[in-house]
Amino acid sequence: MPRFSPRRYLMCRPEFFDVTYTINPWMDPSKAVDAELAVTQWEGLRALYEELGHTVELIEPIAGLPDMVYAANGATVVDGKVLGAHFRNAERGPEGPAYLQWFRDYGFPVTRDAAHINEGEGDFRLTASWLLAGHGFRSSLASHTEAQELFGRPVISLQLVDPRYYHLDTALTVLEGDTIMYNPEAFSPESLAVLRRIFPDALIASAEDAAKFGLNMVSDGLNVFVPEAAQGVAEQLRRRGYMVHPVDLSELLKGGGSVKCCTLELRS
Ligand code: ARG
Repeated sequence: MPRFSPRRYLMCRPEFFDVTYTINPWMDPSKAVDAELAVTQWEGLRALYEELGHTVELIEPIAGLPDMVYAANGATVVDGKVLGAHFRNAERGPEGPAYLQWFRDYGFPVTRDAAHINEGEGDFRLTASWLLAGHGFRSSLASHTEAQELFGRPVISLQLVDPRYYHLDTALTVLEGDTIMYNPEAFSPESLAVLRRIFPDALIASAEDAAKFGLNMVSDGLNVFVPEAAQGVAEQLRRRGYMVHPVDLSELLKGGGSVKCCTLELRS
């Protein structure tokens, strides 16, 4: 049953957003980016969160870090404990310490420098019972154990196999409790079997919607913020009683990210 709960999100205004390198198949530096439009679209999402009763904290963007807008990658926060990000690609390396410093300045009591490569909530998705953890492209398998030992939540490792869905949050979303939606084609057959066993009632997204970044959504338990183009996903959610809010982040899609990528949840 969909049920609302107010959230705290961390976001980073895309003032320095651009596509200047390629670290995922969506990024094409030869395609023009409209930075002003990126900011306008991002402001729309931020305003929508606030209108619906959520708190949005902001981290100062840094020149030369065009991907910093994808705040979901900046850390993982569970029960007020922060696991810092440790990026795989050198281009994003400085974002890890920048985000961790934000948490230290803010006074989060436990802030851990990650020993192993992990890209924050991009690859860690929390359900009521599990911490789902992706590997295969970015976060390392070793980081899954590191997260389990820090958070004391049972980790389920899932292997991603399609380079278009290089982070878990491009392939799977948590709607509320232990209710998830995912794209089966993004996972190895064995990891898919694990998902089917643990979540037999999960919603399944079509390959077409997944390719429109339809799974990169944010849910507060009732309101679901969904990339606008993914109309099939939106329809499925409406039928289940969720309030769907279509969001247009077309500019940020050029970097290989959408709604969820821009949103880091701060769980106290
Ligand atoms: N260009 C960024 C990268 O490849 C996009 C990150 C998207 N973030 C996410 N949580 N999936 O790292």
